[in-house]
Amino acid sequence: MTEHTSVAIAAVMPAAGIGKRMRSDVPKQYLQLHGKTILEHSVARLQAVPAVSQIWLALAADDPYFADTALAHSNIIRVKGGAERMHSVLNALQFIDEHQYPWVLVHDAARPLVRSSDIEHLIQRCLAVEQGGILACRVRDTMKRGELQVSETVSREHLWHALTPQFFPTALLRAALKDAITAGVHVTDEASAMEWAGHNVLLVEGHSDNIKITQPADLALAAFYLEQIV
Ligand code: CTP
Ligand code: MG
Repeated sequence: MTEHTSVAIAAVMPAAGIGKRMRSDVPKQYLQLHGKTILEHSVARLQAVPAVSQIWLALAADDPYFADTALAHSNIIRVKGGAERMHSVLNALQFIDEHQYPWVLVHDAARPLVRSSDIEHLIQRCLAVEQGGILACRVRDTMKRGELQVSETVSREHLWHALTPQFFPTALLRAALKDAITAGVHVTDEASAMEWAGHNVLLVEGHSDNIKITQPADLALAAFYLEQIV
């Protein structure tokens, strides 16, 4: 990074999920990938970004696995997760001083492959225009809407996959998540809360191999990608 290196950035990593769709014995963030847990990979990707000064990690209240990772003795700040991802992120945000850290990156524990260069790109693009944004990648396939049958073909021209990290002003994101929860609006990423609150969100193109490990087959795919990504 160049002109923005002086900005101290906070990072939140929601890691309090149970990984139901993964159907494994341990929550997916604790599965091994090339000799390290997925969580350790994901944290290392954030730590590789010089502007990221502190990481808040949201863990399940009864998490018995974290203590056995190499991260247990690091300076990462542990906070309690909540019922849904949005609650876990908000719980972490409550501990962050927006004067010390005016901007926050939120990154899924289940995305161990994000390139640090993509994170830096996201930060630079957002700070340059002082607007929050997300890493995203363009949809490639022809998109259909429907259940058993196609009801319509949706133009993919303006469609993107929303990835993480997502990067927003700390105070605005905290307010948007809090208000969305109070209003009973269910959001699955930070951008949705910001959009709902009426803020613009920048789309910053990232690499599509920044997958979220979700289903069993994703683990082998992640192992393969890890060998390709430097
Ligand atoms: N997450 C969280 N708190 C929750 C639910 C999810 O911190 N109450 C985290 C997960 O640990 C994960 C990220 O949010 O790093 C993305 O969520 P997802 O991929 O859906 O993970 P899980 O909820 O664990 O998986 P599933 O939906 O299959 O149960
Ligand atoms: Mg989930």
